[in-house]
Amino acid sequence: MCGIVGYIGEKQAKPILLNCLSHLEYRGYDSCGIAVSAGGLEVYKDAIRVQALEKTLPKKVNGKIGIGHTRWATHGEPSQVNAHPHCDCSGRIAVVHNGVINNFQKLKQQLSSEGHRFISETDTEVIPHLIEKYYDGDLAKATELALREVEGSYAIAVLVADEPKLVVARKDSPLIIGIGDRENFVASDVPAIMDYTNRVLYLEDGDLGVVTPEDIRVSRHGVAVDRERHEISWSIEDAQKGGYAHFMLKEIHEQPKVIRDTIGGYLSVTEPIASLTMAGDTLLPDMLILACGTSYHAALIGKYILEQLLRVSVRTELASEFNYSGQISSGSQAIVITQSGETADSLKAIKRLKEEGCPVIVITNVVGSTASRIADQVVYTRAGPEISVAATKSFTAQLMALYWLALPYAKIDIRRLDSLIMGLRQLPGKVQQVLDNEAVISEYARQLSKYKNIFFISRGVNFPVALEGALKLKEISYIHAEGYAAGELKHGSFALLGSGTPVVAIVAQDNTYEAMLTNIKEVKARKSPVMALVEEGDEVVEEVADSVIALPQVDALFSPVVNTVALQLLAYYTAKERGCPIDFPRNLAKSVTVE
Ligand code: AGP
Repeated sequence: MCGIVGYIGEKQAKPILLNCLSHLEYRGYDSCGIAVSAGGLEVYKDAIRVQALEKTLPKKVNGKIGIGHTRWATHGEPSQVNAHPHCDCSGRIAVVHNGVINNFQKLKQQLSSEGHRFISETDTEVIPHLIEKYYDGDLAKATELALREVEGSYAIAVLVADEPKLVVARKDSPLIIGIGDRENFVASDVPAIMDYTNRVLYLEDGDLGVVTPEDIRVSRHGVAVDRERHEISWSIEDAQKGGYAHFMLKEIHEQPKVIRDTIGGYLSVTEPIASLTMAGDTLLPDMLILACGTSYHAALIGKYILEQLLRVSVRTELASEFNYSGQISSGSQAIVITQSGETADSLKAIKRLKEEGCPVIVITNVVGSTASRIADQVVYTRAGPEISVAATKSFTAQLMALYWLALPYAKIDIRRLDSLIMGLRQLPGKVQQVLDNEAVISEYARQLSKYKNIFFISRGVNFPVALEGALKLKEISYIHAEGYAAGELKHGSFALLGSGTPVVAIVAQDNTYEAMLTNIKEVKARKSPVMALVEEGDEVVEEVADSVIALPQVDALFSPVVNTVALQLLAYYTAKERGCPIDFPRNLAKSVTVE
């Protein structure tokens, strides 16, 4: 997820482009750039924030037409050469792009064989070269022909020196046009242009737009179409949240897309996204997964996934503790999970693992992060920038990476493999069903919000979900919450139960079901109110529990995904009920860069 902007009008483009970009940095901020046309093209870009770029620019950059970009790297680390805009060989055509070109390698080889010279590692750079290939003075035509060869998602703005127009197009990435008086604006999202206008039109997938100071023409496959114009009444901050009250709620609602994007970014299930080191044809005997916080809970679920599918023993380590105790042997294979890629404890663990010759796979959400640079292999999640301190969509994306990491090595029969792949493809729809049940969950959150202590319990692959549910509630609602393996409660914490301590029980339709039912009855016997997360249609638990949150049916191995999304909503609405500063809770940081 990047942010693109464009301006064409009577004013100098540079200050407007920079201001628009500054309102889109929530979409990505690892590098940025602008291109302005006044006679030739002037391109300024670097791996810095918008404000820093502004300081490097000449005072006067002439040009009343320009495009700009703020980046969230997917292909190619954040660097000056990988930053956008990207140009063709002549340097006369510039393009900014938000999305992922899946067939860029093939296009690059073909264009290179036709004499085009590439300078960056990005997927985007193929677009200006394709446009150059078809350009005969009609930028719209050339862009349309170029996009016919592109597979993937895109929102683009194209500029060619000396042509008084911008050409834009979108497919599976958002793009709006801001309507001014004798000027028009292009942007990935409305926050960018709200300082200048609140009149916008939304391009739809497959639309191509030609924008001049006086006119906006939209077409599809060469046929003119009309797009409704809207008046925006939101504040810029609201708009950055896409109309949601908090970034956390917006990011929770992005998860169906994040699952699609993350899985969509991995090739086929037969091609491992990272090679688990083999000794001969057997996996290394000692697999360990390390992480901190929410990523550690993903690691714990990863243990169940890998053990169940690969039939190997997997150990998990808290990265902060690993530095004191963890044993490494020649048969060790390490996986380190870190959303930010900058968590000090995880980086220290990676360095130690590597010093001791242990191969390290890093699962991270940030291209170019330190962890991605020092790893032997990197698996990227495609959650996009996560602004809210509380990790939500990045966690779900980490689970997708772990499922996809395991499947090529799974020791299961083909029918089971097919049903798991089908189950993964259906997961975005299942998560959407949980999100559609938001109102019910917010009602239960209102009840929970009055308690001081809350327990979360479960078993098996959902035990880490109980830990994650408790962490989410703790970090944003400030209620003391503990996650427990349900079987552990009777070994001590039972003493804390009673009418003042509710228990949230996560009950999956797997080999833990009967034991969980018994645990719920034991908890009820000690007067604790029980809220149960169950599969829809489960009347047995409904009989015993005080309240149930019914969730769509999924394969037990995927149940942590739907259960966690429900618990994210429960934590969010509980914190909202208590008036907490949800996106930036006290005492916490999005990336913990100190030990
Ligand atoms: C989770 O909501 C917190 N933000 C925190 O526990 C986080 O998961 C932890 O700091 C690890 O961060 P990382 O994934 O970026 O390494």
